Amino acid sequence: MRYIKVSALFLFSVFLLGCDNEIPPERMKSGEDLYNYYCKDCHMRKGPGAYMEHYAGSKPMKPYKILLLIKYDFKKGQHSMPTFKQLSDKQADALAEYIIELQKAKIESR
Ligand code: HEC
Repeated sequence: MRYIKVSALFLFSVFLLGCDNEIPPERMKSGEDLYNYYCKDCHMRKGPGAYMEHYAGSKPMKPYKILLLIKYDFKKGQHSMPTFKQLSDKQADALAEYIIELQKAKIESR
């Protein structure tokens, strides 16, 4: 009887874990997940577009510029981007990489 209870409990926790495919944002690692969570909705409504489709540059941005922009208040006042101080360095790097991919794809499609 006890064995059954323990295994039922075990199965139930596996079930719960299996349902939990929402990673909390502070544990997200992929640039795409982070972008979808923090950035995409707003870009869809204003700014460069959900997939950077309104990006006007002829080259992708440099990673350090993206990092300054999203994490360190670069040029605050001249643009309307919020700052995401909660991003870890790794997350900010992953985001910058993903943004650059989107910008490259946009430039190549012209
Ligand atoms: C509150 C809305 C909003 C959110 C949230 C937001 N952005 Fe933006 N973003 C903008 C707007 C508007 C612009 C257009 C330029 C400006 O006004 O700063 C922009 C521009 C940019 C640019 C520059 C594009 C260019 O052409 O120079 C980058 C890179 C960028 N956003 C990255 C991000 C990333 C990464 C995130 C998430 C961590 C994010 N943004 C979240 C509104 C937002």
